[in-house]
Amino acid sequence: MTIPSSTDEYTAISKDALVENTKIEFDVFLKNDLGGNSRYILFCRGNQEFSAERRGELLNRNTHRLYISTKDTDKYLKYQEKNLKQIVEDKSKSSLQKSGALYQVATNMVHDVLDNPKSGENLERASTWVGNTISHIVQNQNTFSSLFQVTSNDYQTATHSINVSVIGLLFGKHLSLPPNELECLGTGLLLHDVGKSTLPQDVLDKKGSLTSEEFEIIKSHPKAGLDLLEQNDSIDELSLKVVIQHHENNDGTGYPYGLGGSDIHLFGHISRIIDVYDAMTSDRPYADALRPFATLAEIKKENQICFNEELLKEFICFLGQKNQRSEPRAEDILLDPSFVAK
Ligand SMILES: [Fe+2]
Ligand SMILES: [Fe+2]
Repeated sequence: MTIPSSTDEYTAISKDALVENTKIEFDVFLKNDLGGNSRYILFCRGNQEFSAERRGELLNRNTHRLYISTKDTDKYLKYQEKNLKQIVEDKSKSSLQKSGALYQVATNMVHDVLDNPKSGENLERASTWVGNTISHIVQNQNTFSSLFQVTSNDYQTATHSINVSVIGLLFGKHLSLPPNELECLGTGLLLHDVGKSTLPQDVLDKKGSLTSEEFEIIKSHPKAGLDLLEQNDSIDELSLKVVIQHHENNDGTGYPYGLGGSDIHLFGHISRIIDVYDAMTSDRPYADALRPFATLAEIKKENQICFNEELLKEFICFLGQKNQRSEPRAEDILLDPSFVAK
């Protein structure tokens, strides 16, 4: 069956996005470019199983890209989220492909969490994602570099939340945190700015300096986040420490409570460093992204007293493994036809 159509009705996905022996739940097409016309040929119906034979057919054809109807994008993202565990455990997929799938799933899921942070189902999805990301980090080599490659430098609350969670999980592994604590740290970081969903968008997007009233509004977000999340029993106390303490400074000059030194939990200290690091290495409404080492120099010069010194040293050691953000950005990876394309 051949369905002629303009390309904007179809979205390209990588052939590796499909998981063997799963029901796909959306139609999948191959593209045929003949005589300057693109034709989309139905390859697998949504109600069929993607079997090993079908996968073999793709390998034989040397097909890298598959296509889905653009209106099925949500179904595709749900399919990817549902099968994330298999994707992460699939030995035939590269570390970069797995990191890309994790990032794509997170982007969709975090938007849902920010839209409805009280939803138990959304919070459950967040903790499942953290569990899969931990499996990826523990089971695969090169996750430091591949996960840094897929993080975005566009500073929006959703991308920032994913970035700090990913960086926090890698840093937590570097610190040899036990798995249950890693899970709490990753979940807390993913949700750390959820209170911003209650703030006026014009204050969040404002370019230039904030008035004192506007700054007071911004300062309310850790407590607002705690209030939202506390209503759900499934969120661990340790995750809530991240939410409430990620703007507390080591010298007691932070907010909301002005805690200092040992009154701040280890997770509060970790999240303070990573939150600032990600903000400075991202393009924000009021400033362009800094390169990683310029950021570290700036952090050391201006803000050292805000951070736990020992942890800051450890974080610099951790980043020294690789000059991560000199790698291609998320957009470059997502446009790579060998991964996922649109
Ligand atoms: Fe924050
Ligand atoms: Fe933040």
